[in-house]
Amino acid sequence: MLLSGKKALIFGVVNKRSIAYGIAKLFKENGASLALSYAADPIKKRIEPIAEELGADFIVQCNVGSDEEIASTAATVKEHWGVVDVLVHSVAYANREDLQGRFIDTSREGFAVALDVSAFSLVALCRAFEPMFSDNGSVMAMSYYGSGRVVANYNAMGVAKAALESSVRYLAVDLGEKGVRVNAISAGPVKTMAASAISGFHTILSHIEERAPLKRNISLEDVGKCALYLASDLSSGTTGDIVFVDSGYNIMGL
Ligand SMILES: NC(=O)c1ccc[n+]([C@@H]2O[C@H](COP(=O)([O-])OP(=O)(O)OC[C@H]3O[C@@H](n4cnc5c(N)ncnc54)[C@H](O)[C@@H]3O)[C@@H](O)[C@H]2O)c1
Repeated sequence: MLLSGKKALIFGVVNKRSIAYGIAKLFKENGASLALSYAADPIKKRIEPIAEELGADFIVQCNVGSDEEIASTAATVKEHWGVVDVLVHSVAYANREDLQGRFIDTSREGFAVALDVSAFSLVALCRAFEPMFSDNGSVMAMSYYGSGRVVANYNAMGVAKAALESSVRYLAVDLGEKGVRVNAISAGPVKTMAASAISGFHTILSHIEERAPLKRNISLEDVGKCALYLASDLSSGTTGDIVFVDSGYNIMGL
């Protein structure tokens, strides 16, 4: 199996519609040991049955906007595993009012929180886990087309995804010295809890069905399979890259 003996730490499962859940499921089916990290105490009850279903070794609470919680998460993971082979960052947040209307109206606070939780957290997690990454380790983050193109209502999150993708490239250089790869998956739209915060999200889904080369929206399994490639030695020569899993939508012009 592709991930036999690998320990994968996954941030961002909140329910079974989460992109991170699709990734965790495929990782498990391919032999990985799993640990799931959730954002806050109220989510714990939802995560426990999912962790049990997936046979996760442990769960750990981590608000990625807190340096203290990241440090205590790293300590917990060190205690359980000592090493991490794969780290999945599937986390994003922006205030609802910053995912509608005019981008120009984004507040200083709203801009900062979107960038902090959705982009800087990847840097903070890589720094905290750097001593634990195994040689040939793999880190991956989740991005979206709105990082490089204007998508209605995506607003502050588009800017956060641009920062996330740039961070992936800089981190790839820093961690590359140790053989650790850092990549992002740019996923097409998927109906998840986070997506429901984006005003008019359903119109994006129908647009993709009409316009993307594959004439369909992507599934959690489509993203999971790409994550499996990035986590495994199949992607041994790939780092700093943004891999699209979007039914080909990003190649379209007029
Ligand atoms: N759904 C889509 O259409 C789509 C498309 C491309 C990329 N993405 C990205 O995929 C990733 C996962 O989102 P999803 O669509 O699966 O939605 P989701 O709601 O299932 O997952 C988002 C996760 O972020 C977590 N989170 C938010 N704030 C946090 C914090 N401060 N600390 C720790 N965790 C926090 C939530 O608890 C949740 O688990 C995000 O980065 C999102 O931007 C989503």
